[in-house]
Amino acid sequence: MEPSRTNPAEGKTRYAVCGLSRRAIGMFVRPLLKPDGTAGRGDFADGGEIVALLDVDQARLAAFNDRERVDLPGFGPDQFDTMISETRPDAVIVTGPDGSHADYLVRALEHDLDVICEKPMVIDCEQAKAVLAAERTSRGTVRVTHNSRYREPHQVMRRMIKDGWLGRITNVEFVHNLDTYHGTSYFYRWNRYRDQSGGLTITKAVHHFDLINWLLGDVPDQVFAYGALNYYGKNGAHNPSIKDGVDYDHDEQRRRDPYYQRWHVPGGEVRDDHLSGRDALPYDVQYPPGSSLYIYDDDIEIEDTYSAVVRYRSGASMSYSLNLSAAWEGYVLAINGTEGRIETTHYTAPDRCPFPATDRQPITYLPLFGERQVHETRRLPGSHNGSDLQLRQDLFTRQGAAAPDPLGLRASSREGALAVAVGEAMWRSVRSGAPVDIAALLDA
Ligand SMILES: NC(=O)c1ccc[n+]([C@@H]2O[C@H](COP(=O)([O-])OP(=O)(O)OC[C@H]3O[C@@H](n4cnc5c(N)ncnc54)[C@H](O)[C@@H]3O)[C@@H](O)[C@H]2O)c1
Repeated sequence: MEPSRTNPAEGKTRYAVCGLSRRAIGMFVRPLLKPDGTAGRGDFADGGEIVALLDVDQARLAAFNDRERVDLPGFGPDQFDTMISETRPDAVIVTGPDGSHADYLVRALEHDLDVICEKPMVIDCEQAKAVLAAERTSRGTVRVTHNSRYREPHQVMRRMIKDGWLGRITNVEFVHNLDTYHGTSYFYRWNRYRDQSGGLTITKAVHHFDLINWLLGDVPDQVFAYGALNYYGKNGAHNPSIKDGVDYDHDEQRRRDPYYQRWHVPGGEVRDDHLSGRDALPYDVQYPPGSSLYIYDDDIEIEDTYSAVVRYRSGASMSYSLNLSAAWEGYVLAINGTEGRIETTHYTAPDRCPFPATDRQPITYLPLFGERQVHETRRLPGSHNGSDLQLRQDLFTRQGAAAPDPLGLRASSREGALAVAVGEAMWRSVRSGAPVDIAALLDA
């Protein structure tokens, strides 16, 4: 799949960006704008150019232009068609809040444009079906940037499974934790609203569901889950207002809150490879001045804890756990097959672990009837352990785009939809107490 067309006159692909998010700036806009040589960022200005920015927040666009000393034309959501006719992009990059993706995907496809879309592709299966239908009648195609596939340990595991080291996959054990620093961040940003993010099983866990779908080369079939809001929201376990029986304002809550106190040490810098807060540009439309969001607010409506099982079409199954308030961040993953097992543990933020943790992520292969093998993998420089840089090379360099894709790293709209479907099935199962069929959600 060729992700974008080349403008023959310029020799560069022209991109319009919908949603000048922090992710958009770091992952796409600056790398296409500035050959500044930052380690792990790369220089992609030869491969493409940004020709338009669209956002609900015009002050944010203006401040970005000022800061970067550029003059990119800015548009609002109701000016999508004008933006296309005036700036003639070859492709659209969709990077706003998750709930805004579907609209721009469909509108770009209606213009026969290719789309690069951040994960999650959309926030529910109704939106996914609209995108798949629009793509069927468009000359454009959708590429979902499931960057997690590109991490080296994941490519090593995919190769092992593809080459038959495990035989037929029988089951997966997957425990994913976010720590008290990164986990909280989802509850004082837009991600805390189901209608903007789909909830944590979508805005966060599509990374995990897509990873397993892809590693197994399988299609999810049915999901059953329990889940709850334990740590955050009004009844959060550490809410100082509840503990003290006093209705504190946000400032006072933070002063008394163990999450805030744990990480906001005066003068202390917390390193985070992930999105952990807000950036320095205005966010006044998304977060109006005077408004304040904190982790114990009453209107938090999503779960922070899940235990689930997923069945795949091959008959394989997965037990999955997600916890948004853990003492360490990362995952423990094991995949069993008829010929053996692979195991790995990943400490996403070793310097935030309350114990000595390593950057290394070896993959241990245990054949059923042989010696254990430990395969070292590299932690590459750049965001998300170098996966973002690899993905950009794949998207924005001629060599990358033309290279064969034997591991199937490039995620299609159908794959984007299947990851979202697992996430939607999971929270719906929590609500109904019954298993949810993926086919019933996606009509497929
Ligand atoms: N792949 C990854 O590892 C990764 C990491 C972080 C974020 N993401 C994804 O990137 C996207 C952006 O997330 P973020 O946290 O960086 O966002 P953000 O909160 O930093 O920015 C959102 C931007 O979108 C704008 N906006 C809000 N509603 C809009 C609308 N309807 N139309 C156009 N613009 C709108 C806001 O003004 C703001 O500029 C999300 O889909 C998120 O899930 C992916």
